[in-house]
Amino acid sequence: MSDAQAGQIDTVMHEERLFPPPPEFAAAAHIGSLDAYQRLWDEAAADTEAFWEKLAREELHWFQPFDQVLDWNPPFAKWFVGGKTNVSYNCLDVHLDTPRQNKAAILWEGEPGDQRTLTYQELHREVCKFANVLKGLGVGQGDVVSIYMGMTPELAIACLACARIGAVHSVIFGGFSSEAIADRNNDASAKLQITADAGWRRGAELPLKETVDAALAKSPTVEKCVVLRRTGAEVNMVEGRDFWWDDLMDEASADCPAAELDSEAPLFILYTSGSTGKPKGIKHTTAGYNLYTKMTSRWVFDLKDEDIYWCTADVGWITGHSYILYGPLSNGATVVMYEGAPNWPDEGRFWEIVEKYRVTIFYTAPTAIRAFIKWGDEFVRRSDLSSLRLLGTVGEGINPEAWMWYHKTIGGERCPIVDTWWQTETGGIMMTPLPGAIPTKPGSCTKPLPGIVPAVVDETGQPVDEGHGGMLIITRPWPGMLRGIWGDDERYVQQYWSTVPGNYLCGDNARCDRDGYYWIMGRIDDVLNVSGHRLSTIEIESALVSHEHVAEAAAVGKPHELKGEAIAVFVTLRDVEPSDALRDELKQHVRKEIGALAQPDDVRFTGALPKTRSGKIMRRLLRDIASGKEEVGDTTTLEDYSVLASLREDEE
Ligand code: WT7
Repeated sequence: MSDAQAGQIDTVMHEERLFPPPPEFAAAAHIGSLDAYQRLWDEAAADTEAFWEKLAREELHWFQPFDQVLDWNPPFAKWFVGGKTNVSYNCLDVHLDTPRQNKAAILWEGEPGDQRTLTYQELHREVCKFANVLKGLGVGQGDVVSIYMGMTPELAIACLACARIGAVHSVIFGGFSSEAIADRNNDASAKLQITADAGWRRGAELPLKETVDAALAKSPTVEKCVVLRRTGAEVNMVEGRDFWWDDLMDEASADCPAAELDSEAPLFILYTSGSTGKPKGIKHTTAGYNLYTKMTSRWVFDLKDEDIYWCTADVGWITGHSYILYGPLSNGATVVMYEGAPNWPDEGRFWEIVEKYRVTIFYTAPTAIRAFIKWGDEFVRRSDLSSLRLLGTVGEGINPEAWMWYHKTIGGERCPIVDTWWQTETGGIMMTPLPGAIPTKPGSCTKPLPGIVPAVVDETGQPVDEGHGGMLIITRPWPGMLRGIWGDDERYVQQYWSTVPGNYLCGDNARCDRDGYYWIMGRIDDVLNVSGHRLSTIEIESALVSHEHVAEAAAVGKPHELKGEAIAVFVTLRDVEPSDALRDELKQHVRKEIGALAQPDDVRFTGALPKTRSGKIMRRLLRDIASGKEEVGDTTTLEDYSVLASLREDEE
C-alpha cells in the first residue's frame, strides 16, 4: 500500500482475474473487438459534436432537422438546437410500417401470474388513446403529470402518452409515502395524478390510491386523478376529481399524432434523494436523452431483434426509464416487464420468468444478486437458464465474489457481464465493458462509452496518479446529461459543476488502473480515514463478502482517538448464526485479504441492512449508529424501519 497523498485514496484491492468476451459472442456483436471499441471511442473523442451529430441525424426521426449540435454555456447545455422530434414517435411510430409492427414490445407478467403481451402496434394504439385522455383532462405541453403506480403496462403507456403530447412525467416509485408524493407534486407543481387502486407486492395489496388520497390533500396544484383498476380493491373516488382509467379509455380516440417538440422540451423529472438532503428533481429533455438511451442500449446490451430483454428495475427509477422504456423501445426491442417481488410465491420467481419467456439479456442490481446468493442455488437450478446470453448489473458496485457467483450460477460461465456505472443525472450508462469488446475484471465498470471522457482528480482538480483513487469527473457534456434540477439552477451549478469548474462532478470516487479500467470506490462522503489513509468502503465490503458465511456487508467509519477513524462493519450472514468466534474470524479475514490497516474494530451482525428504496445501503445511518449518536437523520427512505430498531437494540 502506498503512502496517503493529499486528496488521493488508497486502494487495497488486488483483483487480477480477467474475462475476455467469448469469441462467439464477439463475432456476432454490434461492437465486436477491443479495436472496434477503441476506434469508436477515439473518433468520438476527436470530434465529439460530429460524432453525436451523425448519430442524431441517422437514429432519430426529425419533424424538423436541428441546425446546431450543441449550445454549451457551461453548465447549461442544449443539444440538437432548432430540431423538432418526439420520443414517443421514436419509440413507437417508427416501427409501425416495418416488420416490427406486430412484434411484442412488452411481455408483461403480473405478480399473481397473469400475463399480457403488447405488440408495437397495440402499444402505439393504447398510447395514442391515453394521450387523448390526457388532453381531455386539460393536460398540455409542459404540464407536469405525477405517476404513482405499480409495474403494469399502463405505467409505460402513461409515460409514453405524456411524451407524445409534450407533458412532463414525474414517476414516483410505488413504495413512497404520501408525504413524499406531496413533496414531489408540490416541487414540480404537478397538474394531474395517475395511480392505480392498488398494486400487488408479495401477495398483498399495496393501497396506492389510499396513499394518493392522503398526498392529494396536500398537493394543491393537482386538479385531477386517473385511477387504473388493477387489483379490484375498494377505493374512495372523489366526484369531479377522480376518474377510472378504463372509463376514460373507452371514450378515447386512437388518433393522436405525436406533437412536434423542441429538442430541449422537458421529457421528465425524476426525483432522487441520494442519501442526504431534500429530494431533487432531475430534469431530462427530449432529443439528447432519446439518442443517448437508444445508442447505449444497443451498444451495451448488444440488442438484436431476436432478443428478449429483461431489466428487473422499477420504472420508478432512472434504470426503468432509460432501460425498460425509452432505450429498448427506440430500438424496437422486446422487453419483459414484471410487476412483483423476486421472492413471490418463492425465491425462484425470477428464474421461472427467464425460462418462461426465454430471456436472453438480464439486467439487475447487485443488492438483488446478493439476495439470490443468500437464498441458495436450489432456486436457480430449478429453471432452465440456457436462453441467457448477456448479464448486467447497475446501482452500486458489485463485489467480486458476487460477480463470480453471477457469472457461474446464472451465466453458466458463458455470458459476459456488463457492470454499468451511471446515475439518474447521467440519463444513461457512462462506463461499462462493452460485452463483445472489453475483457471484464470482476468489480470494475471498465471503460467509458464513446463520447464520454472521465478523469480522476484530487480536491484541487489535479489528476491523481495512476492507480490512486480520487474524485470522478466527466470532462465534456454528453447528450444524455441532466439539464438541471427542477426549479433550482443554483443547486445544479453548485452541486455538480463548481468543485472542478466546467467539469461534471458525479459525487463518486474512483481509481483508474494501468489498463485504463475504472473502479468505482463509493460516494465521496463515504471515504474512511484510518490513521491518515483514505480507504474506500466497497473494498472492505468486498473483502467481507468474499468470506463464505457473509451475505452482505457495509463498512463505515466511527471516531477513534488515535486513528482518526476506526472501521465498523455491519454484516448479514448466510447459513450460520452469529458468534464471537465468527466475529474474530471476519476481522482476521479482512486483515488477511487486504491488510492490517483495514481490519475492522467492530463487527456487528444484523438480520438485514438498512437500504434506500432503490436498494442502496444507508451508510450515513449506519455511521450514526456506529458512533452511538442518538440522532439517525432522515430515515424516510428506509426500506425497513425494523432493521434500525433491531440494530439499536443490539447496541443497548
Ligand atoms: C449512484 C447513482 C444508475 C442507475 C441506478 C442508480 C452508484 C450505480 C454503479 C456501478 C458502482 C454504482 C454510484 C452512483 N452506482 N451504478 N455499476 N458501480 N457504483 O442511480 O440512484 O442515481 O445512483 O449509484 O454511487 O453515483 P442513482
